[in-house]
Amino acid sequence: MSRLSLPHHYTGKVRELYEVDHDRMLVVASDRVSVFDVVLPDLIPDKGRVLTALSTFWFEQTAHLAPNHLVSSDPTDLPETAGPDVAGRAMLVRAARPVRLECVARGYLFGSAWSDYQETGTIMGRTLPAGLRQAERLPEPVFTPTTKADEGHDLPLADVDAAALVGDERYEELRDLTLAIYSFGAEVAAAHGLILADTKLEFGEVDGRLVVIDEMMTPDSSRYWSADDHHVGTSPPSFDKQYVRDHYLSIGWDMKPPVPHMPESVIEGTRARYVEAYEQVSGLSFDAWYGDGE
Ligand SMILES: Nc1ncnc2c1ncn2[C@@H]1O[C@H](COP(=O)(O)OP(=O)(O)OP(=O)(O)O)[C@@H](O)[C@H]1O
Ligand SMILES: [Mg+2]
Repeated sequence: MSRLSLPHHYTGKVRELYEVDHDRMLVVASDRVSVFDVVLPDLIPDKGRVLTALSTFWFEQTAHLAPNHLVSSDPTDLPETAGPDVAGRAMLVRAARPVRLECVARGYLFGSAWSDYQETGTIMGRTLPAGLRQAERLPEPVFTPTTKADEGHDLPLADVDAAALVGDERYEELRDLTLAIYSFGAEVAAAHGLILADTKLEFGEVDGRLVVIDEMMTPDSSRYWSADDHHVGTSPPSFDKQYVRDHYLSIGWDMKPPVPHMPESVIEGTRARYVEAYEQVSGLSFDAWYGDGE
């Protein structure tokens, strides 16, 4: 994807940010995919449009729970200078000052939280009942924020350390909003035969008020399982990047560059999972979403 003629603001692992005017930006989701915080050498066709479609769906659905940065994803609302190529993958948003915390909510014991629990019986000091198994539903969802690292891995935080980063009052606000959005998302997902095991939200400040920024409850930022595939004590197949991660684990890659290319079958399988996630979560057809990926 070539650069737009708008002033460029930031290159993330997946997104490009452009300045539109003093209080609005254009967030363009690319087809890049990162695992273990490394951007892979292959693109997943349509991934950026799926992320934008699903985030748009969730931003609209959760607007009653928390304000968010979305202005519009409709290509006719974008500045003309953005050009036609970004249709479907670009979002016009309110510019925010990002909060230096990644806000994670978990309803199930999996991934890094499962590893931590096996070692300590807690998630960074947060008490849980004894004897829980992998992928088990937690008695209630927990807020497990991490640092927002500029480079490398985000680090898990104990409650006190996370609160010290943003202040007690902000911390409680972030926790309550994150858990409310997660619980709502998990309920909608369940109605469509899916489990939303966990999700990561980012917040920013606009005029001193918190708004959700970046993306919302996509397969990049969340773990979705098919309810039929969920068996406590095992690792359920998921719609998220776990499929790509599993490929790299199976070939014994040491997680250091250079990253080997993915076979065509893994690229195609990943694309299919992203599209399926969007359609199953939203109940909408991806063919009806803006742009044609050209
Ligand atoms: N409305 C907004 N105002 C300001 N910054 C934003 C806004 N929306 C998103 N961002 C920032 O844009 C960047 C998007 O980049 P991208 O999603 O590619 O992720 P990243 O920062 O590389 O890492 P991660 O994998 O943790 O999301 C993030 O740094 C995010 O904080
Ligand atoms: Mg991001």
